Amino acid sequence: MRFGINTIDEFELKGKTVLCRADLNQPVDRETDTLKSTQRIEAFAPTLKELSDAGAKVVVMAHQGSDIEYQNFYCTRPHAKVLSSLIGKEVTWIEDVCGPTAREAIAGMKDGEVILLDNVRFCSEEQTLFELKLKLTHEEQAKTQVVSKLAPLGDLYVCDAFAAAHRDQPTLCGFEQVLPSAMGRLFEKEYCVISELMEQPEKPCVFVLGGSKISDAFIMMETVLKSGSADKVLTGGLAGNILLHATGKKIGQKSIDFIYQKNYEEYIPKAAALYEKYREKIVLPADLGGAENGSRVEYTPEQVPDDFTAIDIGRKTIRIYCEEIAKAKTVFVNGPMGVFEDSLSEDGTKSVFEALGKAEGYTVVGGGDSVTAAKKYKVTDQLGYVCTGGGALIRFLTGEELPVVKALRHAAKAFPVS
Ligand code: 3PG
Repeated sequence: MRFGINTIDEFELKGKTVLCRADLNQPVDRETDTLKSTQRIEAFAPTLKELSDAGAKVVVMAHQGSDIEYQNFYCTRPHAKVLSSLIGKEVTWIEDVCGPTAREAIAGMKDGEVILLDNVRFCSEEQTLFELKLKLTHEEQAKTQVVSKLAPLGDLYVCDAFAAAHRDQPTLCGFEQVLPSAMGRLFEKEYCVISELMEQPEKPCVFVLGGSKISDAFIMMETVLKSGSADKVLTGGLAGNILLHATGKKIGQKSIDFIYQKNYEEYIPKAAALYEKYREKIVLPADLGGAENGSRVEYTPEQVPDDFTAIDIGRKTIRIYCEEIAKAKTVFVNGPMGVFEDSLSEDGTKSVFEALGKAEGYTVVGGGDSVTAAKKYKVTDQLGYVCTGGGALIRFLTGEELPVVKALRHAAKAFPVS
C-alpha cells in the first residue's frame, strides 16, 4: 500500500479476472487507422505485461478522444495492435464495451489472455459532457450500465490511468465501490515522482506554460504562484496572448477574435488580476511570431499590425526563455509555445524543447502536446521526467485529491486485503 492506495503487489493475480482501466488516448490518423503517437501506450505496456505474465485474465478499458473535442474520438482497434507488439502477445480487440459481445469474450478468457474493449466513451455514461452535467457520486457511478455489467465478471479492478485521474467517470471511479482495487505501476510511478518533486522543488524553479488548453494553463499558473513553488512563469501560446492582451499590449485583432471565438474572454480579467499580483514572476512574450504571405514575421507588441494573428513567440522571447531554462534547477513544462506542427510557427517550441534537452536542472514535461513536441525535437531521452498526464498533472499540483485517487483510497478501506 502507498499513499493509502493498494498496489498490484497486494494481490494474487493467477487465474483472476482483472478489469484494468488505462489511458491510451492518442492523436489518431483516421485515413490509415493508425495512431500518430504511441507514448501513453508504451508507458502502460509494462503494467499490462506484468498482469498477464502473472497469469491474470486482463480486460483493458480505455477512452480515445473526447465527446467535447471530436477530432480524436475513435475506436480502440489501432491501440490493440500497438499493445500486442509491445507486450509480445495477442491483445484481442473487442468491438463492444459492456454489451453481450464484451461479456461473452470476458467469460471465455484463459489465464494470461488480454482483451481490449472498445472506446468506453462510446457509452454516454462515460462522456465528459455527462460527467459535467450529471455529476454522479461514486456510489451512483457504480450503478451505471458499464460498471454493473462488467464488475460481476471481475475479481480485481486496477487503475493505471493517471492521465485521466482528474476525471470523475464510471470506469475510473465506479468499480472501486464494488471491487477490491489497486493502482497500476504507471499510476504509482507518476504519483510518486510528481508528489516528491512538488514537495520541495529545487530552486530556482521555472514553469513554462503554453498550449491552447487555457483552463489548464491558468489553474497551473495560479497554483504554483500562490504556493510559492514557481520563481518564474514563462508564458507562451494562447496563455501568453491572453496575458499580453489583458495587460494592454497589442496582439492583433485576429488574435483577439480567436480568444472570443473560443469563449475564453473570461480569462482576460483573470489574467489581468494574476499579472497585477505576481508581475515580478510572470514573464510575458517580448515579441510574437506570425505568418505573412507564406513567410514568418516577428513583431514586438508595440509594432504588431492591426490584423495580426500571433502563432508563436518571437526570437527575443526565445532567447530570454532559453536563458531562464539554463539557469533553473527545476523546470516544469506544460504546453507548446505556438503552433509547432507548422514550420512557420515552430521556432519557439523547437528552441524551448532543445533548451530543455540541454538543461542541467531537473526537467518535467506533461501533457499530450508537450510530449509530442519532446518527441518531435528528439529530446525525450534527455528530459528528467515525462508525465503522461496534462490536465491530471495540473490538478494534482493544486493539492486537491483527484477523483480517482479518492475512489482508490475508498476501495483500500472498503475491501481490506487479508
Ligand atoms: C488527456 O488526454 O488529458 C486524458 O486522456 C484525459 O482526456 P480528457 O481531457 O478528454 O478527459
